Amino acid sequence: MEHRIRVAVIGASGRMGREVVKTVLRETDMELVAGVSRTSGPIDLGRMVGMDDCGILMGSDIEKVLIESKPDVLVDFTGPQTAVSHTNLAIRLGIRPVMGTTGFTPQAIADLDMLCRDNNIGGLIAPNFSIGAILMMRFAAQASKYFPNLEIIEYHGDQKLDAPSGTAVKTAEMISEVREEIKQGNPKEEETIEGSRGGYYNGFRIHSVRLPGVFAQQEVIMAEQGQALKIRHDSYDRAAYMPGVAIAVRKVMTYTGMIYGFEHFID
Ligand SMILES: NC(=O)c1ccc[n+]([C@@H]2O[C@H](COP(=O)([O-])OP(=O)(O)OC[C@H]3O[C@@H](n4cnc5c(N)ncnc54)[C@H](OP(=O)(O)O)[C@@H]3O)[C@@H](O)[C@H]2O)c1
Repeated sequence: MEHRIRVAVIGASGRMGREVVKTVLRETDMELVAGVSRTSGPIDLGRMVGMDDCGILMGSDIEKVLIESKPDVLVDFTGPQTAVSHTNLAIRLGIRPVMGTTGFTPQAIADLDMLCRDNNIGGLIAPNFSIGAILMMRFAAQASKYFPNLEIIEYHGDQKLDAPSGTAVKTAEMISEVREEIKQGNPKEEETIEGSRGGYYNGFRIHSVRLPGVFAQQEVIMAEQGQALKIRHDSYDRAAYMPGVAIAVRKVMTYTGMIYGFEHFID
C-alpha cells in the first residue's frame, strides 16, 4: 500500500481539533497517529468523535507524543499563545506544521520560513481554511473593478469580540487593490444615529452584524444604475474548514519553506 500521510492533531479535544480528527480518520490517504490534549485523558480518539475506536489514545505531552508517533504532518488548532512554540517544535522534529491559529508576527513567519528551509520541509500558517470564503473574497475583488460602488456586510455570533471580522478586513484590502478610487454616497450625507452607515474603509462601508446562533457569513453588495451584484458566502459550522485542512495536509508534503495563507493553495 502507498505511504499514507501520518498526521498528529494538537488541540485534538477542541472544537476544531475534533473535526480534524474525524477528517483524518475518514481520508484514505491519511493515517491518524496521535492526538494531544492537556486535559482530556487517554481517551480513544475515534470514540471521542463518535466514530469506531481507532486504537490511538489521546496524549498530553506534546513533545513526547510527537517523538514517539513520528508524524509527517502536525495539524494545530490550539490558540495564538502557542502558535510559534508549537511550530518551532514541529520543524525542529522534522514534522511539517499546518497551523490554523493566528498569533504570528511577520518576523516570526520569516524566521519560521528560514527554519523550514534549513530543515528542508514545508509548513503552512493559515488563519482561514474556508475555500468558499477565499473564493468569495477573490470574486468580490474581481467584480469591484467594474462595480466600484459596494458595501460589505458580515454576520457573526454575538460573542465575537472584534469588528469588523478579519475576513471583512481582508476582503476590503483585496478590493482596494483593484477598485477605482471613489468616495461613495452623497457628500452631504449625515448620520442622525452614530454608526448607522457602518465603518468607513477607502471610500466604502463595512457593516458588522452580531446575533446569537450565527456562525460566519458575509456578503459584498455591488450596484450600478439599474443592476446589482451580490456575492455571498455562508458557513454554518466548523466542518466548512475541513476540505481546506485536507488539501493543506496533502500539499504541505510537496514543498520546502513556510507559506502564509491558504489562498496560495487555491488556483
Ligand atoms: N484557520 C481557520 O480556518 C480557523 C477556523 C476556526 C478556528 N480557528 C482557530 O483555531 C483555534 C482553536 O479554535 P477552537 O474553536 O477549536 O477552540 P477550542 O474549542 O477552545 O479548542 C482549542 C483546544 O486547544 C487546546 N489548547 C488551548 N490552549 C493550549 C495550549 N496553551 N497548549 C496546548 N493546547 C492548548 C485545548 O485543549 P486542552 O486544554 O485539553 O489542551 C482546547 O481544547 C482558535 O485559535 C481559533 O481562532 C482557525
